[in-house]
Amino acid sequence: MGKVASSMSMSLDGYVTGPHDSREQPLGEGGEVLHRWLGPAGTEADRAVLQEMLDGAGAVLMGRRSYDFCVGDGGWGDGGPVGDTPCFVLTHHAPDPAGVPEVFTFVTDGVESAIAQAKAAAGDRVVGVHGATAAQQALAAGLLDEIQVHLVPVLLGGGVRLFDLLGADPVDLVRDRVIEAGSGVTHLRFRVSRP
Ligand SMILES: NC(=O)c1ccc[n+]([C@@H]2O[C@H](COP(=O)([O-])OP(=O)(O)OC[C@H]3O[C@@H](n4cnc5c(N)ncnc54)[C@H](OP(=O)(O)O)[C@@H]3O)[C@@H](O)[C@H]2O)c1
Repeated sequence: MGKVASSMSMSLDGYVTGPHDSREQPLGEGGEVLHRWLGPAGTEADRAVLQEMLDGAGAVLMGRRSYDFCVGDGGWGDGGPVGDTPCFVLTHHAPDPAGVPEVFTFVTDGVESAIAQAKAAAGDRVVGVHGATAAQQALAAGLLDEIQVHLVPVLLGGGVRLFDLLGADPVDLVRDRVIEAGSGVTHLRFRVSRP
């Protein structure tokens, strides 16, 4: 089985969006800077990190807010965040299937079930976890193997935090890669250490 790995662009003050994220502004006010490295401003090192992610992805797990903000003309067109890679969406209420791109499966019975389905779809490839709520639930359930943080040199001052739902129990991590991309972004990779 492949690993389960979260991958999120984060500000130095810990936000994955600026304030007031919405379908009109999925990364919130001022938050578009978080994904600048994915576009023409990215360096060769940034592009290599992105390509590794795209090549390795066998399935994607996310929460309903990420889906609602980016599906269709929100940015993903007829597919999902990684083209036709299967994408599992945690939600309390699955939407009317009419008009939902084929790559999406809605999961209403919790993160363990969503990860089991995503792993089955991914086989030996990576289950990429996107969205702060989904990533923290995977971590809390002991099902996240790796955390990638693309650290962007900006202080956003508000928005969705990557790690604010985890409670007081420490989670040990082993940093196994640091790439200073030359764009200002530092790509950090951590293995989740389990006793
Ligand atoms: N910086 C980056 O790299 C990056 C990457 C991806 C996304 N983002 C941004 O992050 C934001 C979304 O992250 P988020 O943490 O706010 O939300 P999210 O994880 O995308 O979605 C949270 C929602 O998913 C549903 N959900 C989550 N866990 C569930 C469970 N166990 N059972 C049933 N439903 C569940 C709930 O919606 P319902 O109750 O409505 O079903 C919940 O409100 C968006 O603004 C997106 O643009 C940033």
